[in-house]
Amino acid sequence: MKVSVRCMVPRDVVADAIIVGVYEGAGQLTSEAASVDVLCGGLLKQLIDKREITGKLNEVATIYPPSQTVRKVVVVGLGVADKLDVEKLRQAAANGIKAAAKGKVKSIAAHVLGAGASSINLEDAAAASVEGALLATYSYDVLKSKQEEKTLSEVILLCVGPEAICTIEQGVKRGIVMAEAANLARDLVNAPANHMTPTHMAEKAQQIAKECALHCEVLERSDMERLGMRALLGVAKGSAEPPKLIVLRYNGNPGGATMAFVGKGLTFDSGGISIKPAENMHLMKNDMAGGAAVLGAMQAIGKLKPKVNILGIVPATENMPAGNALKPGDVITAMTGKTIEIISTDAEGRLILADAVAYAAKLGAGKIVDIATLTGACGVALGSVYSAVITNCDKLAQELQSAAATTGERYWPMPNHDEYREMIKSLVADIKNSGGRMGGVMTGGLFIGEFVGETAWAHLDIAPTAYTESEKHYQPKGATGVATRTLAALALLWGEQS
Ligand code: BES
Ligand code: MN
Ligand code: ZN
Repeated sequence: MKVSVRCMVPRDVVADAIIVGVYEGAGQLTSEAASVDVLCGGLLKQLIDKREITGKLNEVATIYPPSQTVRKVVVVGLGVADKLDVEKLRQAAANGIKAAAKGKVKSIAAHVLGAGASSINLEDAAAASVEGALLATYSYDVLKSKQEEKTLSEVILLCVGPEAICTIEQGVKRGIVMAEAANLARDLVNAPANHMTPTHMAEKAQQIAKECALHCEVLERSDMERLGMRALLGVAKGSAEPPKLIVLRYNGNPGGATMAFVGKGLTFDSGGISIKPAENMHLMKNDMAGGAAVLGAMQAIGKLKPKVNILGIVPATENMPAGNALKPGDVITAMTGKTIEIISTDAEGRLILADAVAYAAKLGAGKIVDIATLTGACGVALGSVYSAVITNCDKLAQELQSAAATTGERYWPMPNHDEYREMIKSLVADIKNSGGRMGGVMTGGLFIGEFVGETAWAHLDIAPTAYTESEKHYQPKGATGVATRTLAALALLWGEQS
């Protein structure tokens, strides 16, 4: 989709639809809305006066104006002006564009939603509007033999004065990059496991590296053997697909600190010998969503170029049952030398991440964030409303929250008390890979933390938030791309700090 910025009034616009934002309880139209009302012959103001349109957040109404140049005007509620924030703008833009795009619409014009609101600067408002629009119009239909016709090809952002063009264009660029990164992650997650194999994931990483001038190295089984990554290799043993350890590198601050994002790339989790029930097993193609978020974020980082060095690491493998698969009761030795007793082969994410975070530390990462669809327990604790965070560093957790505040994603801090570590002590090895049902989010997360040494580390459990069965605002059904934008925002924040 093309997004262009133009200095013109709605009366001069030729487009299939115009979106206009109205505030709740405002008394009068903003100057932008008033200029759209000229096109509507005053209908907009009349409908508001008659309380047909209230401006309540995400309210959507369509007006067919007496105009030769614009077929319809979609009015979207922005809520109360004082309470506006970037997440509300993202949602309003999403609901506006979904309504406007109906009926073979090719081009849509709009002023930057929320422009002029006291609490949000114009660049952030433009970024949020574009992000919401591009995230909302995403669909995954490459595998359908008859694809739905996508007519929408152009969004025109109207600006009132030429001095604003540059600022809006900056915001548009960031919005496009962020949305495309999350949509890339969604594509990777929505792809079925017979397409999205570890090999294919590695090829995608190489493609991203080429397009965004990142360095990419893919470690093969033989490299993992040489490095002693027997936790990752143990999970991969039962699968016919060769495992890959993807390492993307972005150097934005030569000589400065390096941070690492490490994402679980389990392309299919059958549970292994501790096999999962058949019901919903198909959804376990989503188990590489953490890895997808890392690849998406690396694409965004490569394009936005923050002043920081970032490693994007994705251990990619399947978890399958087989005659030579890992068995419950087996003991394996991770790269750090720690021995692990396997209680459940279905607790495989923490095994592949144990070696991957240790590798990140070995490569010199000063901060490590791992992202994983790690536990069903996470959904029991938080529903699909929040992802969980476990950390050994409060400052890193704060940075994560600041980044999340800009993306609208939600992360809830979970406890890291030593008593949870007691629960994963093994009788026969240094540690075991399951502490049972109770406290599963913490024992799962803290297991991974045992392999980072002294490095500042945070773990994001996105098991309940990576996939959704219901459409909402800018989130269509299916993969959500969760964590992608927040990781990219975190890199931007680190870049500003240096
Ligand atoms: N990939 C699953 C977690 C998961 C469950 C993600 C549901 C998305 C939706 C993970 O590998 C797993 O199987 N975890 C086990 C851990 C247990 C055996 C300690 C779980 O949560 O049951
Ligand atoms: Mn599992
Ligand atoms: Zn898994």
